[in-house]
Amino acid sequence: MKIVGISGSLSGYKTMTIVFKVLKAAKSLDPNIETELIDLKDYDVEFVNGAPLSFYNADTVKVVDTIMAADGLIIGTPIYQASISGVLKNLLDHLPVDGLMGKTVGMVATGGTDKHYLVMDYHLRSILTFLKANVAGSNVFVNDKYFDAENDIVDRNILLRFEHLAKEVLSIQQFIQQKS
Ligand SMILES: Cc1cc2nc3c(=O)[nH]c(=O)nc-3n(C[C@H](O)[C@H](O)[C@H](O)COP(=O)(O)O)c2cc1C
Repeated sequence: MKIVGISGSLSGYKTMTIVFKVLKAAKSLDPNIETELIDLKDYDVEFVNGAPLSFYNADTVKVVDTIMAADGLIIGTPIYQASISGVLKNLLDHLPVDGLMGKTVGMVATGGTDKHYLVMDYHLRSILTFLKANVAGSNVFVNDKYFDAENDIVDRNILLRFEHLAKEVLSIQQFIQQKS
C-alpha cells in the first residue's frame, strides 16, 4: 500500500510538518507501507487551462501521476481566506472526476484561528467527495500557536490525533483492498 502526502502551501512549513507527521505515524503503524511526501513548493504545478494532462510541464504530470498511483492520501492545507489554499485547489482541478475513486483520504490543516477548523469539512471534503474519494471521518486542524520556533509540535493530544487519523486511513484502505 502506498500513502502519498500532499502539502498545499507555497509559503511556510507548518502544513508540510503536519502532513509529514501523519505519514510518519502511518509508517509506524505499518512498516510495510510505502510513503511519499509531495510538498507543492518543490514543484511547478501549472494552472489548469483545460488542456489534457500531457500538455502540462513535467512537474504537473509527475504530481498528478503520483496521486493517481497512490492507494491513500494525506492532504494538508493552510487555511487561506476561510478556505483551502489556491495551489491545492488548482492541483485538485487537474484530477479527473473519478480520480480519487478507491482511495482513502485523510485531511489536515493549519490556521491562525480556530474559527476556521471546519473549513476541511465544508470546503475540502466536498471536493474530495466529488472526486469519489473515501474521506476519513476524522481530521486534524492545528492552530499556529501549537508550533514551536522550529515549526515542531510537542502537544501530546495533537500527536495522538495524527496517529488516530493515520490508523483510520490505513484501516479503511485495508478494508477496501481486501474487498476488491
Ligand atoms: C493569504 C493568507 C490568508 C490566510 N487566511 C487565514 C484564514 O482565513 N484563517 C486562518 O485561520 N488562517 C489564515 N492564514 C494563516 C495560515 O493559514 C497559517 O499561518 C498557516 O499555518 C500557514 O501554513 P504554512 O506554514 O504551511 O504556510 C492565512 C495566511 C495567509 C498567508
